[in-house]
Amino acid sequence: MPANPIQLRVNGKSVLVSAGTVLAAAIAQAGVTKFRRAVTGGPRGPLCGMGICMECRVTINGQTQCRSCQTLCEEGMEMRTDE
Ligand code: FES
Repeated sequence: MPANPIQLRVNGKSVLVSAGTVLAAAIAQAGVTKFRRAVTGGPRGPLCGMGICMECRVTINGQTQCRSCQTLCEEGMEMRTDE
């Protein structure tokens, strides 16, 4: 059990993380490696981890194109990757 646990959903799967965890880390913890699809259909995932490359974009609570490496997890958050 993580310290100060927060529960969120990653592609419908419940995930428990510690408060202060970055969303990209929570997504990886859920076993997801393909965060989005390139226009050519290829899988994409976090590259820089500091908000520059835009490869970690996901949908958070219905808001598309959010950088998961720049977003802290929040209780009840619902996020989806392109799968
Ligand atoms: S990993 Fe590069 S912007 Fe998020």
